[in-house]
Amino acid sequence: METVLSGIRSTGHLHLGNYFGALRNFVKMQNDYNCFFFIADLHSLTTHPHPDDFHASVKIILSEYLAAGLDPDKCALFIQSDIPEVSELYVLLNMLAYKGEMERTASFKDKVRLNPENVNTGLLTYPVLMAADILVHRANYVPVGKDQEQHLEITRVLARRFNSMYGCDVFPEPQSFKFGSGPIKVPGLDGNGKMGKSEGNGIYLYDDEQTITKKVMRAVTDSGPTEPNSEKPVVIENLFTLLKLVSEPSTVEYFNEKWNDCSIRYGDLKKQLAADICKVTLPIREKIDAIYNDDAYLHRVTSEGRDKARASASATLALAKKAVGFRTF
Ligand code: TYM
Repeated sequence: METVLSGIRSTGHLHLGNYFGALRNFVKMQNDYNCFFFIADLHSLTTHPHPDDFHASVKIILSEYLAAGLDPDKCALFIQSDIPEVSELYVLLNMLAYKGEMERTASFKDKVRLNPENVNTGLLTYPVLMAADILVHRANYVPVGKDQEQHLEITRVLARRFNSMYGCDVFPEPQSFKFGSGPIKVPGLDGNGKMGKSEGNGIYLYDDEQTITKKVMRAVTDSGPTEPNSEKPVVIENLFTLLKLVSEPSTVEYFNEKWNDCSIRYGDLKKQLAADICKVTLPIREKIDAIYNDDAYLHRVTSEGRDKARASASATLALAKKAVGFRTF
C-alpha cells in the first residue's frame, strides 16, 4: 500500500486554508493509504513561541485535527518531536542541502522580508526538516496546499541527491497529491494573497458564527461591476473562490449571474458566504472542546501514533545510515 504523509505547524488554530488546502484531503485518504499525519512542533520553534504556550499550541492543533475527522485508528497521528529519527535524518540531509538553494526558497525570502530581526538558520533549513519528515517514512504522496509545492520540490531534489551520492534507492520521490485540479491556494479576505497564520487573516474552524460573520462582512471589495460579463478583480475572485469551496454549485452560479448582469450586491454575497462557512465549520467546532479536555484520549492517540511512526522511521533511518557508511563496532 502506498504511503501518504502530511503535517501542520503547531501555531494558532486551524483555518480554512489548512482545512481546504490539506486537511480535508487527508481525511478522504485515510481509508485507502498507509497514512502518517503529524504536528510540526519543531518547525514552530523558528518563531520562538513562549515555553508556557508551546504544549497548549500542540494540544489545540491536535484536538482540531481529530475534530475535523482524522481517525487515529486508521492513521498514525503523532507529534514531530516524539520521533527523534526525524532530527537525525535532518542532520544527514543538511549535508546535501546547499546554502544558495535554501536562500532562494520563496518561503525563506518572505520570512526575511516579514521578520528581518529573526533570520535564524532554522528558517533557512526549514525545507530540509520538512524533507526529513517526509523521507523518513518514504512517503509517496503529500497532500499540501499550493504554498508548500516548492518545499516538496526541494524534498525531491534531496531524495535524488541522496540516492545518487550514496548509490542507493532508499528514498522514493514524493508527489503532491492531486485532488481534482491539483493543489489549491485558499485566499485571505483582506486582498493580501493566501489565508495564513502569519498573515493574520485566518477564518478559523474554532471561530463562532458571530466571529465568522464579522470577518466575512469585513472582506475587502470594490465599488461593483460597471460592464456586463467583465473579469472579476482579485478581491472579488477571492470571495468566489471561497464560495466555491463551501457553497452549493447553484449558489455559486446564482452570484455569478448577478455579477455578469451587474446586479450583484456584495452584502448578500457575504451573508451567504458566512452562512455556508458556518455550515461547514460548526459540526467540527462542536467537537473541539470535548476532545481538548480529554487528556487520557489524547495520551492514547499520541502514544500509539508515536509507536507506529517510530517503527517506520527507524527502519528508514537504518537504511539511510547504512548507505552513508555508518557501521557499528
Ligand atoms: P502550515 O502549518 O503552514 O499549513 C498546513 C497545511 O495547510 C496548507 N495551507 C493552505 N493551503 C491552501 N491555501 C492556504 N491559504 C493554506 N494555508 C495553509 C499548507 O499547504 C499545508 O499543507 N511546513 C508545513 C508543515 C510541515 C509539513 C511537513 C507538511 C512540516 N513538515 C511535511 C507536509 C509534509 C507548514 O508550515 O504548513
